[in-house]
Amino acid sequence: MQSNVRPENMQRITNAQLANEFIEQQIKEIRAQVGDKKVLLALSGGVDSSVVAALLIKAIGKQLISVHVNHGLMRKDESENVVKVFKDQLDANLIYVDATDRFLNLLAGVADPESKRKIIGKEFIEVFADEARKLEGVSFLAQGTIYPDILESFKQAEGKKAVKSHHNVGGLPEDLQFELVEPIKLLFKDEVRVVGEALGLPHGMVYRQPFPGPGLGVRCLGAITRDRLNALREADAILREEFDKNGLAEKVWQYFVVVPDIKSVGVKDESRYEGWPAIIRAVNTTDAMSATIEEIPYSLLHHITYRITHEVEGINRVLLDLTPKPIGTIEWE
Ligand code: XMP
Repeated sequence: MQSNVRPENMQRITNAQLANEFIEQQIKEIRAQVGDKKVLLALSGGVDSSVVAALLIKAIGKQLISVHVNHGLMRKDESENVVKVFKDQLDANLIYVDATDRFLNLLAGVADPESKRKIIGKEFIEVFADEARKLEGVSFLAQGTIYPDILESFKQAEGKKAVKSHHNVGGLPEDLQFELVEPIKLLFKDEVRVVGEALGLPHGMVYRQPFPGPGLGVRCLGAITRDRLNALREADAILREEFDKNGLAEKVWQYFVVVPDIKSVGVKDESRYEGWPAIIRAVNTTDAMSATIEEIPYSLLHHITYRITHEVEGINRVLLDLTPKPIGTIEWE
């Protein structure tokens, strides 16, 4: 097994040729480690798990069983896209689980952000474990661990106070213990992206902006309701579409909509119209430890405001968050 320390002389993967060399090397190592056994992977559709899936499909084909859990807190079309790319295009052995009701029923009435995170994280493991128990002969668990995750866990071990409980697939129940396959654990994010492109994954997937494990659950503030969650999902899709069309999607590090659990009075069709505000947040950062605000042209903000308030049921105002990190975190929770 590979060590958890990146050798000082390890070359950074900056182009397709270096990526292909890495891929060839990993294919050999994965085949040597796994043999003819089966490997399980939680495929969220994020860059890291997608690259691991594509790498393992190349190395061991259908011996990889990927499980995509839709917790009902994904962005618009995201789960459908995972199925399209992996099942239809890469012919993956993919199990798609729509667990929306399980998650939303557990979250009903829960307003405290950390309680929401814990419920989502715990249920995610349970849904995944339920699927794993149905399978036979699985010996390995593949994970999209990358080098910053390893560095981060060292830091936590030094006893710093955690700001929030992060969501991951670790901590499976005792009856499900697998040997780990972590082919990208010595890579930095930019290298993972170069490898992803060399593996032929769609550009949009490889350069996808970061999206937290608990998904829209941290952006639908307070107790989540289906109608407010839907409004958030639609407003967020409009923001993403407009950023894409206006050349901001690849320039801005992270941009999204937050919908708090408050209503204000508005007017629509000459009648009183109570609705939620959609809050736009667009930030730039290099390491997510601090962040600055992207200056979005006012004309575009007006257009986005018009679209969100006219196209999304339940939203009657659009606000812009100008808070850097610190003092705000990137997510609202
Ligand atoms: P904050 O809100 O702490 O977020 O400033 C920093 C970055 O981390 C992302 N984030 C998460 N990513 N699992 C993740 O994989 C999580 O539970 C999680 N929570 C926040 C956030 O979107 C931002 O990019």
